[in-house]
Amino acid sequence: MKILPAESPLRGSFSIPGDKSISHRGVILGSLANGTTELSGFLQSEDCLHTRECFSQMGIESHLDDKGTLMIHGKGLLGLTKPKERLYVGNSGTAIRLLSGVLAAQPFSSSIEGDESIAQRPMKRVIDPLQSMGAKIESQGGLAPLIFQPSELKGIDYKMPVASAQVKSCLLLASLYSKGQTHIHEPHPSRDHTEKMFKKFGIDILSSEQGVIFSSQKQNLREISGQKLDIPGDISSAAFFIVAALLTPNSSLTLKNIGINKTRRGIVDVLLKMGANIKITEKEGAFEPVADLTVEYSELKPIDIQGSVIANLIDEIPILAVALSHAKGTSHIRDARELRVKESDRIKSIVQMLQGIGGQVEEYEDGMCITGGKPLRGGQVKTFMDHRIAMSSAVAALTSSEGVQIDDIACIKTSFPSFFDIYNQIQERA
Ligand code: S3P
Repeated sequence: MKILPAESPLRGSFSIPGDKSISHRGVILGSLANGTTELSGFLQSEDCLHTRECFSQMGIESHLDDKGTLMIHGKGLLGLTKPKERLYVGNSGTAIRLLSGVLAAQPFSSSIEGDESIAQRPMKRVIDPLQSMGAKIESQGGLAPLIFQPSELKGIDYKMPVASAQVKSCLLLASLYSKGQTHIHEPHPSRDHTEKMFKKFGIDILSSEQGVIFSSQKQNLREISGQKLDIPGDISSAAFFIVAALLTPNSSLTLKNIGINKTRRGIVDVLLKMGANIKITEKEGAFEPVADLTVEYSELKPIDIQGSVIANLIDEIPILAVALSHAKGTSHIRDARELRVKESDRIKSIVQMLQGIGGQVEEYEDGMCITGGKPLRGGQVKTFMDHRIAMSSAVAALTSSEGVQIDDIACIKTSFPSFFDIYNQIQERA
């Protein structure tokens, strides 16, 4: 698909679909609670619908009402039934890793797999600690498909080698079923949606910058009951439009009800340091912090990022790289080795994306160096079936001189099916 440069400033005020990480967790905890959980703002993207389908294969009914609220009829921690077929997560790393924590603890055997990208992503990071808890798991040399046999789990004291919310959440879900305490230590704080959602469901958990402590012995988990959750707009999806407004001259966009959890808002903090004009209007009352963001076109300065902020903007690095290509001077991204094991090898895909459209970029093993300031020419981009590369390229097209030809946009459906509806709407309103 060929995306053309913007002909006028971007304008508008709109909401962004619900947060992907929170939507997955809502389905999981809603399925394990007793009674109905209402998820308003549930993200109806392929990834989250796969998680819903996996639980439906394990006997959990759910339905979407006409407002898009997902009602999940949970049957309690011990209410799942053996799936008749292998569970399938599509492209979703979050689904396969979080579900592994649940499946490892069930009194029935099961197996789970995903698409070609999932078949290459590392699963040892969940297999190893789950096995230390007593789980019986077979894999293909550390890769999916994964097969689980029934087992009794015990708590674990685990030092995670990389900051990963997927691993942390997998272990927390397994610990709901295990005997004794679980301590998880993180090298850097990763997103804490599972901890926040445990608390919302009345499950006691102690969390600090160093990690999480959970003790299933102290509580009667059979009594977790369904909750009403308002899922905020996904800051990772909002990031594409934040950067689009910052780069396109004279633009002004307001994005409503965006989740600004401090373990996720790294992209906003970094853009503010780069000189971005973003007004944050915080709102009260939700179980996750929420704000309206008003973004105006801005001249951006280069920046060096590394260390703990990386975990808080890991999914936004493709679109940040587009922003850095517009900042006059040289920027460095380091300590981002994890990008190599995302939906694609994102260091390689970002570098090739920028090179394909006239950007100046050098690849490092753990990041990249980007020299910006010269307008991007445009050209051809290969997405490697990675949704965030496709959306970043579409944003880069707006300020390019020739537009951008993207080889595959179908992958966008994994996280943001209405991306092009909003993209077209903010240009029509100009
Ligand atoms: C996610 C955690 C992150 C992130 C992914 C979603 C989650 O992965 O990249 O898109 O919902 O827990 P890691 O935990 O592997 O860093």
